[in-house]
Amino acid sequence: MAIFRKRRGTNETMKKGAKLITVADPQSVVSEQFRTIRTNINFMAVDHKINTLAFTSANVSEGKSTITANVAITYAQSGVKTLLIDGDLRRPTLHSTFNVRNNTGLTTVLTSEAKEINLQDVVEESGIENLSILTAGPIPPNPAELIGSQRMRTFIDLVKSHYDLVIIDLAPVLEVSDTQELASHLDGIVLVVRQGKTQKQAIARAVDMLEFAKVRILGYVMNDVSSENAGYGYGYGYGYGYGYGESEKKGFLSRFKR
Ligand SMILES: Nc1ncnc2c1ncn2[C@@H]1O[C@H](COP(=O)(O)OP(=O)(O)O)[C@@H](O)[C@H]1O
Ligand SMILES: [Mg+2]
Repeated sequence: MAIFRKRRGTNETMKKGAKLITVADPQSVVSEQFRTIRTNINFMAVDHKINTLAFTSANVSEGKSTITANVAITYAQSGVKTLLIDGDLRRPTLHSTFNVRNNTGLTTVLTSEAKEINLQDVVEESGIENLSILTAGPIPPNPAELIGSQRMRTFIDLVKSHYDLVIIDLAPVLEVSDTQELASHLDGIVLVVRQGKTQKQAIARAVDMLEFAKVRILGYVMNDVSSENAGYGYGYGYGYGYGYGESEKKGFLSRFKR
């Protein structure tokens, strides 16, 4: 398996898209890790069905879009009818990842005056069985406002009845102020944390903001787990923590540097 260790904080995924290892090499260790993330999310759904789910992070370039796309694919591969939405309107990547045009998308829906939304006009097939995609659409001057709007919540309520699972790649909590507003309307969110990059204080702040908005945090994905820590000879690595409560919170925050 080819392993890339890229300079951090790049815009690469916006231009070239996220790397879909779960498609390129489904039998790899990393693809298996994505399936474990899926399994762990499913554990959290035992008492509380998860129909709408978002991934977010404290800041940009934590690997959020890469993880969101690959986890969505593992759901689709397991037969779950999935819609993946690009909700990061400042740094959209989904159209690049699936190599489709972005002339219409989520922003088209959110700015349209039309009373009725025809899903077929905006949702596209990804080329992967069971996976549909909704790209971000043209970037508006007021992305945070759109994501936090009542229209966005109404739209999510509409689409969720058409899919088993709606997964949203949501803007970083500390970058876009309205992220929590939508997040609190969803069944759960998963926080993406990049080992060695995300600062402990940033995570703590992001968690505080999400909790304040009464967002259900299902767990976190630890991205870029180094070979020393994971015991793998891979640059890519994903760990997962879930069962989020006070003690887990302390445990997971203590893993990050101050
Ligand atoms: N585990 C990893 N190992 C190496 N590179 C990674 C890893 N996760 C993400 N990247 C790279 O880091 C950059 C940012 O990832 P991206 O998924 O776009 O993050 P975000 O959506 O949080 O901004 C991309 O170039 C991506 O390929
Ligand atoms: Mg992204």
